[in-house]
Amino acid sequence: MINDFIYDIPVRVYFGRDQLKHLTAELKKYGSRVLMTYGGGSIKRIGLYDRVVREIKKAGLELFEFSGIEPNPRIDSVREGARLCKEHRIDVLLAVGGGSTIDATKWIAAGACVDHDPWDFLDWSKWAPVNKALPIVDILTLSATGSEMDCGGVISNPATKDKNGRLDPHLLPKASFLDPSNTFSVSAYQTACGAADMMSHIIEVYFNMNQDLYMLDCFMEGLMKTIIRFAPVAMRKPDDYEARANLMWASSWAINGFINGGKAQLWSCHPMEHELSAIYDITHGLGLAILTPRWMEYCLDETTVSKFVQFGVNVFGIDASLQPMAIAKLAIEKLSAFFFDDLQLKRDFPSVGIDDTHFSAMAKKAVRGDTLQGFKPLRQQDVETIYKMCMS
Ligand code: NZQ
Ligand code: ZN
Repeated sequence: MINDFIYDIPVRVYFGRDQLKHLTAELKKYGSRVLMTYGGGSIKRIGLYDRVVREIKKAGLELFEFSGIEPNPRIDSVREGARLCKEHRIDVLLAVGGGSTIDATKWIAAGACVDHDPWDFLDWSKWAPVNKALPIVDILTLSATGSEMDCGGVISNPATKDKNGRLDPHLLPKASFLDPSNTFSVSAYQTACGAADMMSHIIEVYFNMNQDLYMLDCFMEGLMKTIIRFAPVAMRKPDDYEARANLMWASSWAINGFINGGKAQLWSCHPMEHELSAIYDITHGLGLAILTPRWMEYCLDETTVSKFVQFGVNVFGIDASLQPMAIAKLAIEKLSAFFFDDLQLKRDFPSVGIDDTHFSAMAKKAVRGDTLQGFKPLRQQDVETIYKMCMS
């Protein structure tokens, strides 16, 4: 059934090598006091920091900085960033980095506009309203999360062992600068994790038994084929512009809302993975790579096999004349081979230091106390079983 939907993605994207010249014009739209946020220093190593500072100073803007945002960003960073915004009466935020920096910046932008603790936005029991946020411009340096073109942000709270995400239109960046050459320095491992994350963003939407727009299914299959083709190239040859460019634009379109059309369905692997990152601080894409094939095995049955057949035939070119169940199993094997052989990601929980100690608590949190209404509804027991399947 083709449901109604609203298409609205108002992020101005500057794509390509020579776009930084537009940066200060974008920033000036919102004021003169800029807080640049970034992570652990990769932007300094690649020379991007110096280029950005030069542009900002040349334009006569006032620059403040907040660095040290960690992968799987923490609420303390958000708190400190929001405090700095208030102290320096910041007009606009400039996030320079990967998904973690951009996500944290989104919640800093919202936290700067309220008097309460920013965690209240993300605490399931409080869910404080987001009525306002400072404007955000970003320069993306890692292709993965799509945070540059969506309105979500995921934050960890080590004190409560939560990693919670939330979408809100106020958090959408005003402009995103996507220069693929800024990702040449991304390690093979982070490139692989990014590719697994993008694949999962598409799979979470594509695996849906409601046949929405055929056009969107074709678009998603094209995105997946793009990632499968170019991620290994970027790992082998980090400065391959064509590969980096394809991955960068795919990362944005995998999650900017376009592929959803009118599909309404909760995601499955993401809630399960966020519990892993919350407790074990593992890289998001790695957790997804381990979980996704097991989740697929768990969901595969006579009622869902047709979707796996479509996936196997259209994405991996499996012979359509084989038995549907055989195609489905082969499709899962091909996806596993992509994650674990081509991308060289670790294939199970023990190899990334996860044991069964917290499975029950993690599963309970993942289903938010009830059921994940995803591709196949999952209750706590189902999620626990999927976690157990990841042990070997
Ligand atoms: O901190 P620095 O020094 O910048 O180093 C980072 C970090 O160590 C490094 N890196 C980034 N760009 C680089 C680079 N290293 C060399 N060269 C560059 N050009 O890579 C490491 C990982 O960075 P991070 O930002 O953590 O990675 P990613 O972009 O994968 O972001 C992951 C976070 O985003 C969340 C995840 O849960 C996780 O917390 N997600 C956000 C989403 C969203 N906003 O919609 C959706 C996703 O599903 C996801 O949950
Ligand atoms: Zn993700």
